[in-house]
Amino acid sequence: MHFMKSLSFALGLLSLVWVGGLATADEITQGKALFMQYCASCHGPNGAGDGPLSPSLSTPPANLRVLSLRFGNPLPQNVIARFIDGRADVKAHGPRDMPVWGEKFYAESNGDERKVKERIAKLVAFLQSIQTGARTASVNLEWAASRRNEKLNHRPAEILVFRP
Ligand code: HEC
Repeated sequence: MHFMKSLSFALGLLSLVWVGGLATADEITQGKALFMQYCASCHGPNGAGDGPLSPSLSTPPANLRVLSLRFGNPLPQNVIARFIDGRADVKAHGPRDMPVWGEKFYAESNGDERKVKERIAKLVAFLQSIQTGARTASVNLEWAASRRNEKLNHRPAEILVFRP
């Protein structure tokens, strides 16, 4: 019983992290093009948070090159994708400064949810490619879940290790 619970927990973690799998160079290139088109105006061409619109925003656009310092490296794709999409969060917490890309991409693709997910996955792949944080620092649930014989009793905060 306990084993089944741990197993389904581990599988749950895996599916949480394992969306989209590993990015290809192609995806990153396409993600970069999307980033230039939709994101650079606020976050800057290199994602450093210094786009031309940034001085006029009440909340400064985040420096997206250091996401890994907060979220771990590799980035938890699901969490980042969900934030970019924004539809679920805005429903729960109300309006925010960051545009709700899920809505915009949904409209642009004439309601094709698969295309929305694809675009966001490419953006996440690009964001992963520009992280400047140490590759070792990680909320690496994927790795943790793959160690079948190790107990999954860490909470993410305990796994998080900063190595400047
Ligand atoms: C109109 C300006 C604007 C544009 C355009 C924009 N963003 Fe943002 N973004 C923001 C702001 C402002 C924040 C900080 C929001 C907050 O803290 O609530 C943010 C935060 C983020 C975060 C979260 C960072 C963190 O530290 O939690 C991510 C990821 C992100 N943006 C990705 C994107 C992507 C990808 C695009 C393009 C599809 C994009 N942004 C386009 C303004 C923008």
